[in-house]
Amino acid sequence: AGKHGSNGGKLGFQAIAPVSRSVDSMTVPEGYDWHSIIRWGDPLFKRSPEFDAQKQTARKQAEQFGYNCDYLDIIVDKYSGRTGVLVANHEYTNEDMMFQADWFEANKDEARRIAMNAHGFSVVEVSRKKNNKKWTYVQGGERNRRITAQTEFTVDGPAAGSDLLKTAADRTGTKVLGTLNNCAGGTTPWGTVLSGEENIDQYFRGRGTAEEARYGIAAKATERGWEDTDPRFGLHHEGFENEANRFGWVVEIDPQNPKSTPVKHTALGRFKHEGANVRIAKNGKAVAYSGDDSRFEYIYKFVSSATYRKNDRRHNMTLLSDGDLYVAKFAGNSPIAQIDGSGALPSDGAFDGTGTWLPLVRGGKSMVEGMNVAEVLVYTRLAADKVGATKMDRPEDVEPSPVSGKLYVALTNNSDRGKAGKEGATEQNPRVANRDGHVLELTEAGNDATATKFTWNILLVAGDPKVNSSTYFSGYPAQKVSPISCPDNLAFDSAGNLWISTDGAPGTIGYSDALHKVTLTGKDRGRVEQFLAVPTGAETCGPVIHDKDGSVFVAVQHPGEGGSFAQPASLFPDFVAAPGKVKKGQFYGPRPSVVQVFKDHKGNNGNGHGHGR
Ligand code: FEO
Ligand code: CA
Ligand code: CA
Ligand code: CA
Repeated sequence: AGKHGSNGGKLGFQAIAPVSRSVDSMTVPEGYDWHSIIRWGDPLFKRSPEFDAQKQTARKQAEQFGYNCDYLDIIVDKYSGRTGVLVANHEYTNEDMMFQADWFEANKDEARRIAMNAHGFSVVEVSRKKNNKKWTYVQGGERNRRITAQTEFTVDGPAAGSDLLKTAADRTGTKVLGTLNNCAGGTTPWGTVLSGEENIDQYFRGRGTAEEARYGIAAKATERGWEDTDPRFGLHHEGFENEANRFGWVVEIDPQNPKSTPVKHTALGRFKHEGANVRIAKNGKAVAYSGDDSRFEYIYKFVSSATYRKNDRRHNMTLLSDGDLYVAKFAGNSPIAQIDGSGALPSDGAFDGTGTWLPLVRGGKSMVEGMNVAEVLVYTRLAADKVGATKMDRPEDVEPSPVSGKLYVALTNNSDRGKAGKEGATEQNPRVANRDGHVLELTEAGNDATATKFTWNILLVAGDPKVNSSTYFSGYPAQKVSPISCPDNLAFDSAGNLWISTDGAPGTIGYSDALHKVTLTGKDRGRVEQFLAVPTGAETCGPVIHDKDGSVFVAVQHPGEGGSFAQPASLFPDFVAAPGKVKKGQFYGPRPSVVQVFKDHKGNNGNGHGHGR
């Protein structure tokens, strides 16, 4: 791998070698260093208690950085360049690693309340000194905020107030406590943050209805047991039958205003939203793309009724409240489509074809037979089934390039493709038992984000080309790329290169999860270069690429997963030498953290010693 990408991007780096999944460190390229900006438990407010894992309470956790940070943005204040806000969501909790086992058994209600308060969002101000790249978080910053599973949200859009959203605690169907399982997200052109409520099924004990089943909610006690601590998590409890319908939405928060009420947008439909990303179309409409991350699920887009107004934040924050909802249907154009280890390509040399956005709601009317608008939006998976949308291999981030407008779709994997009774390989999902995933590139007709037709092609079929010949990199020599598996979150640098973080590589190609840069244009199109690896057990989340500023940020989620409180599998990022050596605010064990990787002008090799704050 060469020193610099051939087509721009201000981060020159030599690709790192893939890292063994047992390495408990951040690994970054030569000439870079890293530090953690904020860790699970770090206090956010002036008088917030210092983290002490042995004495944690729900009340303390509500004032501290949450667990398992996933979506991330660092929104720099334009006037200064030295202040800003860090926004992260907290997808889920790993109780085994958070709590001492005996204490957990004896204090389940409090442990569950701690876990509820470790979900949601953190907004925290960051600052840095002149001529210093390193951001640190500001305890007590004016915009600091925690949103948890108990924070009030407003529901808006066509399904707000519908009977399907009413409960004994909210007879209006418009006010919901909390957000759950917030996975990826997107920062809007008007500066708010969107986040997807993804695997919400794990929080609810169901009643066994068909709708619950379609959303993965089982009619049995949950592993978390929240239904025993707070009745609303048991759909079998009278008055709370609809509580699960109040989750599975795209939420919008305003990180500049800690007093604002966050919103759940029903107009974007309800499913296992990985995230949502907005592009402003030529005619000014806001177009939001979103994937439903489960095997054989769909890709959606929303087109706003109203149009974007520059510098009118208040108006723009209503754009996702009303509009049309579509789901994608793909068609291939080659009879031979499967990539099977022989390296054979389709007869026309490409995995490609055409597609249509099928309307589910248009002009305020349901386009789905037998379902009204509220039903389409609350049971969007069922609506998409009815119109014959295309089943994809776990659509994770779906993100338009701010440079080209082309849409990129991370299809993380699908071990069930081709299994008995399941759909087999297709040109758009060309591998049976798709272990490593692929990335699709989609171009709207006329490059118009509101178009109802598109063309598509596969950018890459992931894997380790050295041991797996069913890989494809748009013609770039497979032997020269970094191995890549389970593409999950996407980001772009200022030159339009695609950055891909991974979730699951340790279990497939045996290397730690990673962040890769992929060149999209020119002679190096398809070239994958690994930028970093996260510590053992972690997945790489929320990449933010400030290439002009020589920095990359990632959320290190669930480091040490598989270990326990008593026997941690990772000590990242505190690296305390022994349980008895814990200093104030530290933890002997892993802490999900936000990490900044930056160009180091002192020439240190950045091999992961710089965890000081
Ligand atoms: Fe939470 Fe689809 O990853
Ligand atoms: Ca994800
Ligand atoms: Ca083809
Ligand atoms: Ca992204």
